[in-house]
Amino acid sequence: MSYKISIIEGDGIGHEIVPAALKVLEHTGLSFEWDFVLAGEKAVEEYQTPVPDSTIESILSNKLALKGPLTNLVARGWPSPNVMLRKNLGLFAAVKRARYFEGVGSPFKNADLVVVREAKEDTYAGAEQQVGSDAAIAIKFITKENSLNVANFTFDLARRLGRKKVSITHKANVLKLTDGIFLKSAQEAAKNYPDIECDSLMIDHMAFKLVNDSLDCDVILAPNVYGDILADLIAGICGSLGLGFGGNFGPEAAVFEPVHGTAPTIAGQGIANPIGEILSGAMLLSYIGEEQAAKTIENAVASVLKKGEFLTGDLGGTASTNDITDAIIREMK
Ligand code: NAI
Repeated sequence: MSYKISIIEGDGIGHEIVPAALKVLEHTGLSFEWDFVLAGEKAVEEYQTPVPDSTIESILSNKLALKGPLTNLVARGWPSPNVMLRKNLGLFAAVKRARYFEGVGSPFKNADLVVVREAKEDTYAGAEQQVGSDAAIAIKFITKENSLNVANFTFDLARRLGRKKVSITHKANVLKLTDGIFLKSAQEAAKNYPDIECDSLMIDHMAFKLVNDSLDCDVILAPNVYGDILADLIAGICGSLGLGFGGNFGPEAAVFEPVHGTAPTIAGQGIANPIGEILSGAMLLSYIGEEQAAKTIENAVASVLKKGEFLTGDLGGTASTNDITDAIIREMK
């Protein structure tokens, strides 16, 4: 059996780390058919839109995609390609994960953190308006239906991953209506999962707790904007933004991608850390039931990081993207 997967290389370091991830996936011995499609800067050049219909059709047909990071084109007058993908594919939940690996310079030994970020609503819906010449407003839009969906998704995920606790993150003391709906909906969903402990923390307290007592944090459920920020924070806690990985989920498709962005200042130099992209590929394998192949990749990554011979600059080494990728492939047994 061959798995057909839509591939978006994306922008910046995407052109280096996505090929690295595909090389690792091919080395699992599974059979893949890559369906390369465009989004981001190249799509604007070729199709005059950040996400052409052909890209959406490919992903909806294959139901699976692996993507690199995409430049936010809002400043150039285009909608955000990531927001377009989420909206057009109905991706309502973004899972971001980061774990501690031995050999990586992080004081947070054994941290293994998951952030589930609501992915369709909040101020990232992009509803902004100028008010006079020197002021503007952004609308924070939160619905009970979507909050319940993402909360149920999170508790199901926690169960599937054998996790013990879900922490709902919010600022409902100030944003009583919007964050209030999110919090109440998540607490309502929690009642159907008595086997999973559930607590709720305000976003500022959550940020403090993550760096003060990260081992007591497990799965964090957050509205879109707080979740975006916490995703980078958990990657940093685990040693580098280059290590965070994840996937976006909806009823019709799942799109896997690392936590970080296009890293424009190092793009084209062959020095980007490909691990976030590689582990996103492993997460895709796990999602389609290829658990053994996913474990092989994770173990190979862990082994390369522990040995410390081939580390990229963000991890304190001098290895290239190709060096660390080849080292991971050599460890895949
Ligand atoms: P960024 O994540 O691209 O970079 C932040 C810092 O981390 C930089 O110093 C960068 O060099 C470093 N870094 C990131 N990934 C790395 C890797 N794999 N290996 C080594 N170093 C790495 O964030 P920034 O600069 O705020 O955003 C750049 C562009 O990426 C923007 O257009 C932004 O909108 C976009 N972006 C796209 C995302 C996506 O497509 N999911 C997510 C985050 C940002």
